[in-house]
Amino acid sequence: MAVLLWPWLARAATVGDLRCEHLVDPQGIDTVNPRLGWVVDSDVRGDAQTAYQVLVASSPHVLDRGTGDLWDSGKVDSPESIQVSYQGQPLGSMRTCYWKVCIWDQRGNASAWSRPAQWSTGILEQGDWKAKWIGLDPAAPADGSRRLAARWLRKEFAADKKISRATVCYSGLGWSELYLNGERIGNEVLSPALSDYSKRVFYVTHDVSSALVQGKNAIGVVLGNGRFFAPRLDKPKTVTYGAPKLLLQLHLEYEDGSVEDVTSDTTWKLSADGPIVANNEYDGEEYDARREFADWSSPGFHDASWQRAHAVEAPGGVMSAPMIDPIRVTAAIKPVSVAEPSPGMFVYDMGQNFAGWCLLRVKGPPGQRVSLRFAERLRDDGTLYVDNLRSAKVTDLYTLKGGDRETHEPRFTLHGFRYVEVTGYPGKPGMDAIEGRVVNDDLERAGEFACSNPLINQIYRNVVWGVRSNYRSIPTDCPQRDERQGWLGDRSAESRGEAYLFRNNALYAKWVQDMADAQRADGAVPDVCPAYWPFYNDGVTWPSSIAIIPGALMDQDADRYLLARAYPAIAKWLNHQIGLLKDDIAMRDTYGDWCEPPESPELIHSKDPARKTAGPLLSTTYLYHCLELGARYAKILGNAEDEKLFAAEADRIKQAFNARFYRKDLGQYDNGSATSYILPLAFDMVPEGERQRVMGRLVEKIMKENNGHGSHGLVGGQWVNRVLTRYGHGDVAYAMATQTTYPSLGYMAARGATTVWELWNGDTADPSMNSGNHVMLVGDLITWLYEDVAGIAPDADQPGFRHVLMRPTPVGDLKSVRAAYRSFYGLISSEWKLDGEAFTLDVTVPANATATVYVPAAGEAAVTESAGPASQADGVRFLRLEGAAAVYEIGSGSYHFRSTTGR
Ligand code: BGC
Repeated sequence: MAVLLWPWLARAATVGDLRCEHLVDPQGIDTVNPRLGWVVDSDVRGDAQTAYQVLVASSPHVLDRGTGDLWDSGKVDSPESIQVSYQGQPLGSMRTCYWKVCIWDQRGNASAWSRPAQWSTGILEQGDWKAKWIGLDPAAPADGSRRLAARWLRKEFAADKKISRATVCYSGLGWSELYLNGERIGNEVLSPALSDYSKRVFYVTHDVSSALVQGKNAIGVVLGNGRFFAPRLDKPKTVTYGAPKLLLQLHLEYEDGSVEDVTSDTTWKLSADGPIVANNEYDGEEYDARREFADWSSPGFHDASWQRAHAVEAPGGVMSAPMIDPIRVTAAIKPVSVAEPSPGMFVYDMGQNFAGWCLLRVKGPPGQRVSLRFAERLRDDGTLYVDNLRSAKVTDLYTLKGGDRETHEPRFTLHGFRYVEVTGYPGKPGMDAIEGRVVNDDLERAGEFACSNPLINQIYRNVVWGVRSNYRSIPTDCPQRDERQGWLGDRSAESRGEAYLFRNNALYAKWVQDMADAQRADGAVPDVCPAYWPFYNDGVTWPSSIAIIPGALMDQDADRYLLARAYPAIAKWLNHQIGLLKDDIAMRDTYGDWCEPPESPELIHSKDPARKTAGPLLSTTYLYHCLELGARYAKILGNAEDEKLFAAEADRIKQAFNARFYRKDLGQYDNGSATSYILPLAFDMVPEGERQRVMGRLVEKIMKENNGHGSHGLVGGQWVNRVLTRYGHGDVAYAMATQTTYPSLGYMAARGATTVWELWNGDTADPSMNSGNHVMLVGDLITWLYEDVAGIAPDADQPGFRHVLMRPTPVGDLKSVRAAYRSFYGLISSEWKLDGEAFTLDVTVPANATATVYVPAAGEAAVTESAGPASQADGVRFLRLEGAAAVYEIGSGSYHFRSTTGR
């Protein structure tokens, strides 16, 4: 048996014959009912938990004694092993809770206790914040510069007794780093998480007991602009909040039982004359090493020339713990080559497009200025192609202090790049002069996928890098140009596939909260969230993320709590949209099926009306789907009234939609664009009896008219592969997935892309919108690869992969597929091989979960499991023949099926 503390996943240890996991123990969470989870890990077929007991204690010793002074659940007869809500003593701020669990199996045997795990609370009540916001106003320098100098803040204090425990909670906006007694605290970067600061402000918590001493101590904080001071005047105008500011509370517990708080206030000292002369996420950071303050965050630093910090206004938002893994430097990348396209200009190729920055190593005279500029592509002459970065200046400057070799990394900027131009370098830089730093939300990998087709493997790799580059406490559209916004439409259904790549549930739950925060009083949800670009257009497709994503998280992780929390905002948005209907048709739409492949190479958007899907068709189908989801959520939450209302609205919309758009004489929707078929099919809106015909038109469109290529944009693309496969046309999805000609993801890969482009024709389109690192065109490819091709899908009726739907689908010329996914219950894997008519399938189902397995077979008799007849195998139950598959029910364990497909 294993233990994990939701939502962080863990490592293994062995307890008797049951193995045990527990997590990176989260610090500073701000929920009073954290959810606990553990992995029941066993090799026995059909193993499952029948009961559990959780102990939560206020100290490790108490827990060790087997006492749960905060919560002793007693033996609870329940199979639940994930999302188990803490039901103990009410918790106060800044408390550490230690816990462990034991379980009982079906034979009534109890496991040993798990290894202890822990969590700590942050500041639970707004009133528990005693600190004051401090900084330096006014914000804007007279020249209107966007690159403000960093603010350095410090405070010394004496702890005259022995400290038993010290906890710091702080928020340095836009971004900050904390130091205690000369040491950096934590390794998160670009912290805290992004938010609309007028609604919500994230703070970070650290246990700093070992960083403090009895006697003199010093605190140092450096503040960068981030998105807080973001006066971009380019269109569209970005919301900006003011000058960087700090709120910090350090809670000291002494060995004698007394406590003391050191808080930010106007006794702190501040300087804006440090080495970070200018910083801006988009434009870069300017660092002058000659201006460094030696030992500024240690006691005894001479700060007489520093000014007193000003008391400044609070940003306005609710103080919250982010409850997501922070952004960190997650990898280092060495350049693969360097060229000198003009004298003194060195251009490095990092071999991979990614988000981050570079570490610089340099030795030279004081005052020498080295410049680093970043781009995704090169021009033919070997210099940087920066036309697609629009107003982002992407330049980091480093001025040497002289002497020994200097190494430097910027703190408060981010670039999306593959190529780095170095100028001003003293002499000729070697290959080790720079090193890439990959920067993104530090999420665990959730799954693995590989198959016999190298192109699909390459595309998969490109998608992983694309997703990774766009995780920064929100999912962004791109990391390189002057945009980097959380566009809702790009991720509504696409995010479901990302969940197989990274354990992103907490990140998306946070983003849903951002959406609820951004919702207007009338129910409108913006297109971008946080609404740094405040677009409230009242279309349906982009805001639909607020309704779609919680359902995906429910399927994936059984996250009923998120659903309950988000439901009021979802219902409000649905009602708002119902109010905008005209004759049961949703008329408003802003972006169409964004980025359908255009007819000529330089275009961003098609000008041909025959290629475009009508706005009301997109909005109406999406609203129908969201109302159906709304009815499902209302049912889960026991809200019968809403369930009825949303179902009835959906029904009315479906009638009106078919009356308006379906041309029965032709079997065609509206103008017959691909997406006009995809959406009604995907959402089950096509009248019974017409479905095969409509699907036939879609297949004809893809295979005949477009020679095996898609002609959808980002909206249709989020459903197309799955709906084709559902109707038995997985081969058509495979044809699209394996193209290397325009338009296709393979076309990008064949042209050397290491990520995914924004546009199908990203190599030839107008540079005003051709990012090389966008994930919106990925659509449902990853969902399809895992759920359909490999056959690892959740069952909405027993969510969180408690029951797995394993329906592997051999498609095209694929000979083998290997996929694994780490659900909250544990590892699920599916590996199949096809050799002529011989099919083998190896599956693993974690303990406490079950699966329905579809084995492609000519008949039941054609299937064996571990060399014997499948229907008689231990733990295998034959259910039925369905289509060309024999269907079995299995419990946990590993199984080896063989069959003859008869094809
Ligand atoms: C963004 C897309 C977004 C679109 C909608 C583009 O600039 O990069 O991600 O969905 O705008 O207008």
